[in-house]
Amino acid sequence: MPVEVLQQAAAEMTDWRGSGMGVMEMSHRGKEFIGIYEQAVADLRALLAIPSEFRILFMQGGGIAENAIVPLNLSRAGRVDVAVTGSWSQKSAAEAQRYCSVNVACDASAQDFRDVPSPAQWRLSADASYVHVCTNETIHGVEFHELPDLRALGSNAPLVIDFSSHVLSRPVDWSRVGLAFGGAQKNIGPAGVTLVVVREDLIGHALPICPSAFDYATVAKHDSMYNTPPTFGIYMAGLIFQWIQRQGGVAALQARNIAKAQLLYDFLDQSAFFENRVSPAWRSRMNVPFFLKDESRNEAFLAGAKARGLLQLKGHKSVGGMRASIYNAMPLEGVQALVDYLREFEKEQA
Ligand SMILES: Cc1ncc(COP(=O)(O)O)c(C=O)c1O
Repeated sequence: MPVEVLQQAAAEMTDWRGSGMGVMEMSHRGKEFIGIYEQAVADLRALLAIPSEFRILFMQGGGIAENAIVPLNLSRAGRVDVAVTGSWSQKSAAEAQRYCSVNVACDASAQDFRDVPSPAQWRLSADASYVHVCTNETIHGVEFHELPDLRALGSNAPLVIDFSSHVLSRPVDWSRVGLAFGGAQKNIGPAGVTLVVVREDLIGHALPICPSAFDYATVAKHDSMYNTPPTFGIYMAGLIFQWIQRQGGVAALQARNIAKAQLLYDFLDQSAFFENRVSPAWRSRMNVPFFLKDESRNEAFLAGAKARGLLQLKGHKSVGGMRASIYNAMPLEGVQALVDYLREFEKEQA
């Protein structure tokens, strides 16, 4: 979270703009909160240039719940295609299987998810209800820098993207997307809000077993307030959207994110001591897993990092090693501080 946003939230915590109450104390049906909600939706639509035929929904349950909610709404109990490019899409495929038949369009597990087969090689079904892609695999550090163009690949199915961990880090080509979902807790705000952006023609086809609170038609009809929405999370998301505007918008953040990632990958690639193992064309600009070539130094590395205030660098338990998550709120100076530490640690060990 950007510090200035946390400070703003702290200043407004007990009395939101002279209303005499904090956001957590407001009715979600009152004019104050409705104003906060409408501003957040409008700001997000402008930031990501979301066309008018898409609805913006704020839901709950995170990306994990969307792994079920998407097939419950879109699969029509038929067949769906899933590109398995890391742990998150692997989970999505397993969950979708409970509601429909899943065709694994590609499976990069044999390459330890360090590379992705080119979409031109995917085995897409002729009759898929949708094609699921996780466009940034948070754990494996694999990112699609361009969305697959399904029409050019001979598929008429809508593309569903899980953009949880790089939403708002770059623009989205909505002409290629049917539905996008993402948990808030990376680039949007605190955990608890799930963003769903869905094309209107995909709404209204839920399976009869779909819970009402998860039926996109019900959620859209009630402007994300069929059940009490996560009001504080939506307010925080709105503050983040305004912070992004002040940074110059998503294109400005994209340029900054490219510079941040380049700085770190350039160091890792010339290092004799550290390495990133993802194929260069697929490297994530948000999550950079890296390894010490001598893994017996891992604990010493983490202790030294902590002493400098460089926190949460331990890699995901399924991958090991280290991982630097350099989301939107991480400034270039933060990445520079990490690179300085990596350089010094390497020199010390030589
Ligand atoms: C790409 C991706 N998808 C889905 C999830 C699951 O999100 P949640 O824990 O909010 O359900 C995560 C969480 O880190 C993620 O990174």
